[in-house]
Amino acid sequence: MRYCIIGSGGREHAIAWRLLSDGSADEVYVLPGNGGIAEEFRVKLKIDDFKGIAEFCSGERIDMVVVGPEVPLSAGITDYLVERGIRTFGPSRRAAMLEGSKLFAKRIMRACGVPTGDYHEFNTRDGLLRHIDTTEAFPMVIKLDGLAAGKGVGIPENRKDARAFVDAMVRDGMRVFVEEYLEGEEASVLGICDGDTVLPLVAAQDHKRIFDGDRGPNTGGMGAYAPAPVMTAERLERVRREVLVPTIEGMKREGIPFKGILYAGVIVKGDEIRVLEFNARFGDPETQVILPLLENRLGELFSAAVDGTLARCAVRFKRKSAITVVMASGGYPGEYETGKPIKGLDSLPEGALVFHAGTETRDGSCYTAGGRVLNVTATANDLAGARELAYEAVGRISFEGAVFRKDIGHRALK
Ligand code: GLY
Repeated sequence: MRYCIIGSGGREHAIAWRLLSDGSADEVYVLPGNGGIAEEFRVKLKIDDFKGIAEFCSGERIDMVVVGPEVPLSAGITDYLVERGIRTFGPSRRAAMLEGSKLFAKRIMRACGVPTGDYHEFNTRDGLLRHIDTTEAFPMVIKLDGLAAGKGVGIPENRKDARAFVDAMVRDGMRVFVEEYLEGEEASVLGICDGDTVLPLVAAQDHKRIFDGDRGPNTGGMGAYAPAPVMTAERLERVRREVLVPTIEGMKREGIPFKGILYAGVIVKGDEIRVLEFNARFGDPETQVILPLLENRLGELFSAAVDGTLARCAVRFKRKSAITVVMASGGYPGEYETGKPIKGLDSLPEGALVFHAGTETRDGSCYTAGGRVLNVTATANDLAGARELAYEAVGRISFEGAVFRKDIGHRALK
């Protein structure tokens, strides 16, 4: 089988690695890819160039396209490719609204009885400001409706900060809502879906803040581990029964079957499990810890999802743990420099893997080319062993200004 993966992050490198290493794929192209992908398998096209992508896939007789990021999904890449006879793993444009429109997701959750925070939509900026001036409910969660690369959510602690968020982010005419503030421990539960059936994957936990102890600004994710002990087998079954299945059934009733990865970001507090958000794709960096634990051939699951035969499959995971530590450029998630040579990639301890993200190669050497640079990943019998191995590998890799969190997995290992 020949695959083409759309995207350029650690998630896409992990999917490519997995398809090749479990025998699903003979060849995997990544578009546009990164420095971790062999030069001849990187496709230098933009991910919004749907025509170019379709021509490439037809010309190279690609058997299946796998779409990583949300932006092309929300722009309808799956519909475009499927209409041209190209098998594609990923939701349609309308199904991707579960991520692309937070209000759509809320409406579906409400209609299907999926547990989530209460919310109130505001039609005008003045209406929202009036609410801020009169409520005592702080911290307050303010969400903008569309995709905003992680910047569409504000959690002000007080009235002054809430007004500042509105001043900076909300223009009249924007769709915006205020959501109940939920406390607890977060987990990412991803399910693979074929429109009818959803099979949950092993639960993971992301580390969104830049600094140890979950302090500092949000990032795209500084590390992850799986399985996340907060998501016990009993809780995972509840997420399947109370969140994933009703959502898939609700989408089908709406005439928008969901095929692809449905990612539920949930928050757990005691007996309560509620959905914070949906994503319509694999998580990054969650994928980097989920796929090393998967026992199935990934390509068979993708095919079953596209063909609508997931009911005949069972997803199995190794009884091990995996952890990934993101090495980022100094200054990230603010401004940072690129073009720094990366050393040590050829001296990793046995059992460690590196999935590239913001890297590029020149004359056979590897350089930094983005904020999140590398995902240093290890698998072991338990999380403590995986963490030790991952940090040993991190210690052997260097580039000028490299930053990384030293406490990935801290909630599980405390
Ligand atoms: N890890 C968070 C995300 O993929 O959106």
